[in-house]
Amino acid sequence: MPIKLTYALPVDQTGWKIEGKSETVLSWTYDNSRDELLALYDKGKRRQWNADYRIDWSPDLPEDNPMEMPDVQVPIFGSPIWDKLNEKERGRFRRHMQAWQVSQFLHGEQAALVCVARIVTLVPDMDSKFYAATQVMDEARHVEVYSRLLREKFGLAYPMTPALTRIFDTVLRDSRWDFTYLGTQVLVESLGLASFQRIRNQSKNVLAQTINAYVMQDEARHVAFGRLALRDLYPQLTEAERKEREEFVAEACFLLHSRLDFAELWETVDLPRQACVDFVMTSKFLTQFRGALFRRIAPTVKYVGLLGPTLTKAFEQMDVLKYADFDLEARMEEDDRMAREMTQRFAPAAAKKGKGEKGKGDGPS
Ligand SMILES: [Fe+2]
Ligand SMILES: [Fe+2]
Repeated sequence: MPIKLTYALPVDQTGWKIEGKSETVLSWTYDNSRDELLALYDKGKRRQWNADYRIDWSPDLPEDNPMEMPDVQVPIFGSPIWDKLNEKERGRFRRHMQAWQVSQFLHGEQAALVCVARIVTLVPDMDSKFYAATQVMDEARHVEVYSRLLREKFGLAYPMTPALTRIFDTVLRDSRWDFTYLGTQVLVESLGLASFQRIRNQSKNVLAQTINAYVMQDEARHVAFGRLALRDLYPQLTEAERKEREEFVAEACFLLHSRLDFAELWETVDLPRQACVDFVMTSKFLTQFRGALFRRIAPTVKYVGLLGPTLTKAFEQMDVLKYADFDLEARMEEDDRMAREMTQRFAPAAAKKGKGEKGKGDGPS
């Protein structure tokens, strides 16, 4: 049953129109495909899942902790501010914080949908167009699930954060396709994956676990696509062109590193903004989250050949260079394995409850 979303903060832009020059590239070369990209395209076709059958949407979620997350995942957990709140105030905070998080997923997925649709038109190679087309569908399904989660289980939403807005604004104004890849497939998807991972692993709620595990399985393909496409392109660029890319990634990383402070949230839930931000910026919560984020960004940047002097210096300043050699492929295989396990465990029952085709799943995975 669709429910209208109530925004906790005024949404001053109900829509977002971005003016910019864009190209459309058609290719008449159909026989020059890379095996690795075609394998990803094939996986993308086979692993489309349908949220109506794959996910059991029937349970109501607890009002005071919808995703049933442990309190150590509250950014101000352990602070005098948190200690002073009574149980009712804590419940209100958990609900708003989780709505804030899922809202970022939802808006980020919509922006990713638009970005990847642009990749279909911008990218010159037919194999990349094929693969990106499957990703457009993936992102549409992700918008669908987070929108449904927010509308049916929260009824509450927040606008996109200024940091995310700025990254997407830059990417969507630039007509070079690799900037769209960098912004979406490398930066924002890594941010999404670090956040989804936290919920998949820590939530006690099957709906929250499964949504995030299944989305992560798709996102791992998206990151793999970005890695393959950029790895082929960057060795061909000039030094100046590569430096421009490094500067863009460095600026976005500084933004992600320094602005993970939930700044829009505090006053809405009647908490002292500056004191909360000050606590969060040195909290264990944020240190762990930054680790999870840069374990995904830094190895990817290195893999595509963009870890030159500018980014090395930026990563050193943020103390995240140590993650550049992290085994991201093993992490992504783990993401895939966990999604397959959850599918086996929960999908048959969800399919029985799904509307329409009783007892049918949503295809092989
Ligand atoms: Fe997505
Ligand atoms: Fe994605």
